[in-house]
Amino acid sequence: MTEAEAPSQFQASFGAVFGRGPEVTAQAPGRVNLLGEHTDYQGGYVLPAAIPQQATVSVARNGGKQHRLHSANLGQTLSVPVGEVGTGFAPYLTGSVALAGVHDALDIWVSSEVPSGGLSSSAALELATLRALRALYSLPLDDVDLALLGQRVEHEYVGVMCGIMDQMASSLADTAHMLFLDTRSLERRKLPLPADSARGTAQILVIDSGVPRRLAESGYNERRSQVEEASLLLGVTQLRDVQEVAALDALPERLKQRARHVVTENARVLEALHADAGHFGRLMNASHASLQHDYEVSHPQVDVLVALLQKQAGVYGARMTGAGFGGAVVALVQAGQAGAVAEAVLKVYGGEGRQVVP
Ligand code: GLA
Repeated sequence: MTEAEAPSQFQASFGAVFGRGPEVTAQAPGRVNLLGEHTDYQGGYVLPAAIPQQATVSVARNGGKQHRLHSANLGQTLSVPVGEVGTGFAPYLTGSVALAGVHDALDIWVSSEVPSGGLSSSAALELATLRALRALYSLPLDDVDLALLGQRVEHEYVGVMCGIMDQMASSLADTAHMLFLDTRSLERRKLPLPADSARGTAQILVIDSGVPRRLAESGYNERRSQVEEASLLLGVTQLRDVQEVAALDALPERLKQRARHVVTENARVLEALHADAGHFGRLMNASHASLQHDYEVSHPQVDVLVALLQKQAGVYGARMTGAGFGGAVVALVQAGQAGAVAEAVLKVYGGEGRQVVP
């Protein structure tokens, strides 16, 4: 789909559901996190990039007392009274509307290309909705404000106590750079993708493992409270403030393991800022091992896929990406090799695996 086709296509789809065109249409991308996993709720560092897949949201005021919300992916329309939250996909939209301070009844049409499972499909939906509302009401909100509102939608309306990485990435990242973000200060910098002096800029390959994420929410919240307990025991505000693994020695074994992941992952991100593709890839491999053994948020089938990628010629490194418990994996591969790598690895992996980026 080209930019030029997009508006008329969305106009027509909106029209088919609501009988007239939308007032605004906005989009926001999903993200893939290259390094810095499970660090953003402890003030740490992350390195995500946007993926080409976007969520699209079209909005028009309807003059009534109910929002009418249509998901093209689900083929479902929900009616939710203004001021109520609703269920299913509604909270992402009604939460965004409420936090944007909008009191009108709206017709909202949403469609998303962002695969679910580790690529921030929810943040993309929140950010596309908030961008549409910002445009429709000329809201004086910058891109960081929108990301912070998106995170509040998760906390207050969806019930997921996520960090800020996904919303910041959806709001501020692009597909050609990594967004180096300090999740405590929100200071950020766009960096070129890792390169290899012989082969040039590396490619990002994302494969969906086909493993549906189970227990992701409860596992996520459990990890979050474990590292909060660890920082409390260590007397620091956040594990971001711990640099030495030796400082974790006094912790009970399980908490020590969890904290060690966060501390070493922060160090890996800082090291990656100056790394060429080969070095960056080794840091990704180390990140996966840490997520698998210390943080225990991977999945046996995901580990198989990651190991296949790590062994494949043309791959600098590979790891799970996102919250884990199934979902997507990311590999850094030599320029021009992504397609061949994906084909070779998926032939052996089989199952429900599929290439989703590039
Ligand atoms: C989810 C959360 C993020 C982050 C990652 C793990 O995507 O939404 O805030 O914690 O998991 O790095």
